[in-house]
Amino acid sequence: MSNERTTGSVEHFKRARIVSVGTSVPDTVLTNSDFEKMVDTNDEWIVTRTGIKSRHVAAKGSMVTTAGLGSAAARLALERAKTAPEQVDGIICATITPDGLFPSTACKIQADLGCRGAFAFDIAAACAGFVYGLSLAKNFIAAGQGSTFLVVGSEMLSRITDYTDRATCILFGDGAGAAVVQGTNDKDTGIQSVCLSSDGSLGKILYCNLWDDSRFMYMEGREVFKYAVRMMAEVTKKAVAEAGLTLDDIDYFIPHQANIRIIKTLGETLNIAPEKVIVNLENFGNTSSASIPLALNEAIQDGRIRKGSTVLLTSLGGGVTVAGAVIRF
Ligand code: ACO
Repeated sequence: MSNERTTGSVEHFKRARIVSVGTSVPDTVLTNSDFEKMVDTNDEWIVTRTGIKSRHVAAKGSMVTTAGLGSAAARLALERAKTAPEQVDGIICATITPDGLFPSTACKIQADLGCRGAFAFDIAAACAGFVYGLSLAKNFIAAGQGSTFLVVGSEMLSRITDYTDRATCILFGDGAGAAVVQGTNDKDTGIQSVCLSSDGSLGKILYCNLWDDSRFMYMEGREVFKYAVRMMAEVTKKAVAEAGLTLDDIDYFIPHQANIRIIKTLGETLNIAPEKVIVNLENFGNTSSASIPLALNEAIQDGRIRKGSTVLLTSLGGGVTVAGAVIRF
């Protein structure tokens, strides 16, 4: 996977492809047994109900930031793409846990990396944010507004997690994933379809209010479970059909890494063989917009996803926001 663009090129690409992925997580790991000391829970309950065994979180008082995690992931993605920071035309960062209201996390990443000529902005689409970002990059490229983009999902969910609430605190982790997205005219590689939808009337099942005293995430777990399965199944079928494919044509499915039971139920609903589903939530928990690139990175690094692989990404997040995409590598 190498950089197709030469500096100063004005070539107008019609399509977009993921050239590389990079990730970053804080060093500190919280295991299920750590939670046994914090709240009334146990490893067996957490593993059975969620599939999660450990998650990375920024240590209290550490210097870890959402922008720092995003920058580290993006730097690695650029190195892997053999692309210089100056070649980046745009940075899109999906996050619901920015370090401040402004400047955007994307602008901080731009400064950290030295992407001097890029435009940069954040999007808030929760767990679906990374795929929303891919869609924007694809459309910017097709419109001729640049040919090299960084799409980043970076979160510090530990900042908005109530560690006295056993029903939610065991679910979430911190981390970042980034992709270098570049223009291509090869119709057989790259982003084959993206389907986005939202239903704001469901905002009440999963939210975090900025000006509440607590500023913690609120979640109606069973409602989220129900809508996650239903809506991710729908958007998966739509994205596959829009790419002119069937579910059988997909080599790997990467669902948002929220919960193993959601992923299993989704797989059963769509009749997908379990070995085709990429799951790494046992080591990361739910990292919202970072979850899909963290899983994608793992499957690229271990060789499951390689040149020619057709991959389906699907996610549901607070909003609710829903996204599905078919990518050919
Ligand atoms: N340890 C032990 N017991 C617990 C824990 C815990 N960590 N958390 C809740 N319980 C208890 C509850 O208090 C309740 O006890 P009670 O029967 O005495 O009242 C019992 O377990 C059952 O609670 P429920 O909330 O009904 O448990 P459920 O089976 O629904 O599982 C869960 C909860 C895991 C949150 C589930 O609803 C779920 O997976 N929801 C999906 C939510 C999700 O993944 N959200 C991620 C964010 S959204 C997204 O990314 C799309």
